[in-house]
Amino acid sequence: MMPSPQTVIVHPAPGGVRGQVQPPGDKSISHRYALLASLAHGTSTIRGYSTGGDCGSTLACLRGLGVAIARTGQDADGLQLTVTGRGLRGLLAPSDVLDAGNSGSTMRMLAGILAAQPFSTTVTGDDSLRRRPMRRVIAPLERMGARIQSTEGRPPLTITGASDLQPLDFTPDVPSAQVKSAVLLAGLHAAGVTRVHEPLSTRDHTERALEAFGVNVTRETHTVSVAGGQRLTGQALDVPGDISSAAFWMCAAASLSGSEIVIDHVGLNPTRTGIIDILRRFGAEVALDDDGAVRGEPMGTIVVRHRDVGSVVITPDEVPGVIDELPVLAALATHGGELLVTGAAELRVKESDRISALADGFRRMGATIDELPDGFHVDGRHRLRGGDVHARNDHRLAMAFAVAALGATGPTTIEDAGAAAVSYPAFFSVLESLRG
Ligand code: S3P
Repeated sequence: MMPSPQTVIVHPAPGGVRGQVQPPGDKSISHRYALLASLAHGTSTIRGYSTGGDCGSTLACLRGLGVAIARTGQDADGLQLTVTGRGLRGLLAPSDVLDAGNSGSTMRMLAGILAAQPFSTTVTGDDSLRRRPMRRVIAPLERMGARIQSTEGRPPLTITGASDLQPLDFTPDVPSAQVKSAVLLAGLHAAGVTRVHEPLSTRDHTERALEAFGVNVTRETHTVSVAGGQRLTGQALDVPGDISSAAFWMCAAASLSGSEIVIDHVGLNPTRTGIIDILRRFGAEVALDDDGAVRGEPMGTIVVRHRDVGSVVITPDEVPGVIDELPVLAALATHGGELLVTGAAELRVKESDRISALADGFRRMGATIDELPDGFHVDGRHRLRGGDVHARNDHRLAMAFAVAALGATGPTTIEDAGAAAVSYPAFFSVLESLRG
């Protein structure tokens, strides 16, 4: 697939969106399978690995640490890879700085692994990533025994690992699967049991992936624990489609009359399906067909049909389950609905400040949106007219603006639309193929 061009003009879709989509392989799961396959003994094969730039950054970093990764093919939803694991203690000191690109997941989760390696590694990223907060991983990993230099808590990070890492009992300050995962990955190498407590649950792909690789993980309601020193064994893995990428089509279908979208082979992990409940609250019809789980990750088919677009409130306890879908849910609300989100201050430290960038873009398209310190309120009763917006190097904003643009009266020009390639390289060509 061609990557998205930099500037895209999106025209209204008066006939709605219709069709069948296979979204790209899940970004969160792809990162974890690549990381754990590198730490395993033996060879792993991964099918459906995300073609997005972020997951490519993880592969580049792992190759820099001496991991042999071969690309053996490509399907509609992603790459086929063979990863030759180096075992828990087998990574090699890189000869150069590692580049995590735009990917916070790569930098934070890799930091957990590097915390245990007997060498120093510098990990940097693009302008957006170098602005993002890393103290949330630096603090626990230093408590475990690593030394980490940063620029006032921001990348680049120079991580000097400790081969005698101490286990940790830890409660992150913010609900974050990346932080939880960094600590658990470090805990895999520690002498004893590492525990992470989570008052609000976050996505549990690391826990499921560890189990898939043969690691014993203890899961209680708000706590996950792992004992260090366990052996990972190479696996044959299948990455389901990314529900956070599918969310753009699900929201487009929910927004526009006459729409019906079928999403195939998509991940249905319950820590990620909050969007389904919210779409139903907006008034959409959503049907599910669960195909069961592969290596612990549930997958199936989702069908979304337009009915009504009503008024929804997303409460703070729901936010971790839909954190990546909030921009496109805001876009859905611009199609005649209303949305209030609070408890989502995390949006300000994503690939962009997603609250102010979203409000700015939507206003340029004619929306009524109020920015709150920890969320936003969209009043979508006036139809958008379209306009010129900037995605600010943020993939989810580029795609959310496109979904909002489909219901406008005129065209919308999205600058920096190429950012979509970080998670969904084919997004704009799929969009054109779905017009009803
Ligand atoms: C992710 C966790 C979330 C999410 C990000 C991917 C992951 O970030 O926003 O896109 O794969 O663990 P936080 O852990 O920072 O909330």
